[in-house]
Amino acid sequence: MAQKTAIVCGAGGFIGGHLVNRLKDEGYWVRGVDLKENEWGNMNADDFVLGDLRDPQVCARLFDRPIDEVYQLAADMGGAGYIFTGEHDADVMHNSALINLNMAKLCVEHKVKKVFYSSSACIYPAYNQQDPNNPKCSEDSAYPAMPDSEYGWEKLFSERLYLAFMRNYGLNVRIARLHNIFGPQGTWRGGREKAPAAICRKVAMAKDGDEIEIWGDGNQTRSFLYIDECIEGIRRLMESDFPGPVNIGSEEMVTINQLVDMVCEIAGKRLKKRHDLTKPQGVRGRNSDNRLIQEKLGWAPSMPLKEGLKRTYAWIEEQVRLWLAEEAQKKALEQAAV
Ligand code: NAD
Ligand code: GDD
Repeated sequence: MAQKTAIVCGAGGFIGGHLVNRLKDEGYWVRGVDLKENEWGNMNADDFVLGDLRDPQVCARLFDRPIDEVYQLAADMGGAGYIFTGEHDADVMHNSALINLNMAKLCVEHKVKKVFYSSSACIYPAYNQQDPNNPKCSEDSAYPAMPDSEYGWEKLFSERLYLAFMRNYGLNVRIARLHNIFGPQGTWRGGREKAPAAICRKVAMAKDGDEIEIWGDGNQTRSFLYIDECIEGIRRLMESDFPGPVNIGSEEMVTINQLVDMVCEIAGKRLKKRHDLTKPQGVRGRNSDNRLIQEKLGWAPSMPLKEGLKRTYAWIEEQVRLWLAEEAQKKALEQAAV
């Protein structure tokens, strides 16, 4: 059988980097593409294109050989501190929409056999996510649409874009609504990090008895999915006959305070929480609803949150250690130069 070929858009990022390696393990020939190199140096694509997918010519050049599958994960994205401040709304919508407009059309022109699109839980209506104990995120609740961020609106638009290409041009699409994915090699500082990585970083940097800042009152709820299960879900969806959209997320809903307590327990530290109500918070409650994925794929994520957090905390603790050592070395060199 001929070797399968795939393009992973966003291969320099968190999920894209992990996905490239999974496809390589499965025997694919993989071309990665991103604005930036994968900073961890362990992304094993056969070919990597450093390029801007907003540019149609960059996109077109990716198809210089027959491509079986495209995984479209490139987006201008981040956690609550990036998408809920309003400061990046225009860029998020413009940048991500251009990438999807380019890729959907080229996938038809180049007769790509299957296309994966990474949508988000952020497409679900704000009015169903006001009760932290009872959020509604079943796939059929997406309409009437009222996402709480422009990031969510762009994701919903692009879902519709791929579905329109499926109806009008026969594009074979698979759409997943990912629910807060975390794990090693995820963004952990700089402003785009999500709650699990931010909390792990804050705990790793604190001393026993210290106080750490938590955004909101900590009673808002979320579920968090470990990266390996996200990749498993993406691959299973691609191999299935179901186009989606379907949730890929965990159903283990926790409050942010519970998330902090779990990380503290893993770290073996007792810390105080200082709640800052002025910080971005997003919806009050969110949880994955896994009935549809279970029905269509006969599978749903099952790893306990605590297990994924243990692995993630160990990785972030090491990044913090390396970072602090680097900063100390810089300072020593500066002082020596004076
Ligand atoms: P990430 O930021 O680590 O990866 C996205 C990558 O896209 C980045 O490396 C970025 O450089 C690249 N990119 C952005 N603009 C580009 C452009 N113009 N040209 C080329 N590359 C460009 O994010 P991630 O967590 O790996 O998320 C991957 C996808 O999954 C995104 O589409 C995101 O919206 C979606 N998603 C992620 C989560 C999550 O919790 N991580 C949840 C829901 C949806
Ligand atoms: N980022 C962050 N940093 N969030 C914190 C912190 C902190 O230090 N402390 C508390 N929080 C709270 C936020 O206020 C928010 O209420 C909750 O933790 C979750 O924040 P995030 O993980 O940043 O984002 P999100 O769950 O609201 O949205 C994310 O998930 C979507 C998919 O489910 C985003 O990453 C979206 O881009 C993604 O599509």
